[in-house]
Amino acid sequence: MTHTGFTLWLTGMSGAGKSTISDKIIERLRTAGAKVELLDGDIVRTNLSQGLGFSREDRDTNIRRIGFVSELLSRNGVIVVVAAISPYRETREEVKAKIGNFVEVFVNCPVEVLAARDVKGLYKKALAGEVGNFTGISDPYEPPLHPDVEVRTDRETVDESLDRIWAELRRRGFISQ
Ligand code: ADX
Repeated sequence: MTHTGFTLWLTGMSGAGKSTISDKIIERLRTAGAKVELLDGDIVRTNLSQGLGFSREDRDTNIRRIGFVSELLSRNGVIVVVAAISPYRETREEVKAKIGNFVEVFVNCPVEVLAARDVKGLYKKALAGEVGNFTGISDPYEPPLHPDVEVRTDRETVDESLDRIWAELRRRGFISQ
């Protein structure tokens, strides 16, 4: 498979399925012979963004750092997959404009479903007031108005989401097969 460098940016609330979809799409891209790198918010926050919290300012700093690295990699021919809540529309638009080859995927799932699933136990804590500034509970999430792809993880399988993302990458000419 041939490909250009581009950034596949997954935005959505905690537990919506960003990491799961990222892992699967990366596996599929690597199997096809592509050069791919993952920038996952949870991982970036343990190194590049260590020490940052969840105020608007800190989240924006985190997203700008991820955007900066994405630009460096994608302009060198690498496919970058980003999985970060990235709750602020304006900041997402800012990194999109800088990076250029950019595909925005809205990983959408109703907050009630996320709170019921609560894989990390954070929604329970947020609802009890033990975790502050929690996205979707006590902090904003601004959904994309015109995402390139929207996946509904409460209604479709991971493979269905993957196929739709893959189709968009082909349609845009970023991947050849
Ligand atoms: S972002 O807002 O800066 O894009 P990022 O994706 O890096 O967020 O990190 C989100 C992860 O941090 C969540 O998946 C969750 O595990 C953890 N987390 C801890 N506290 C919060 C909080 N207050 N709001 C959202 N996520 C939180």
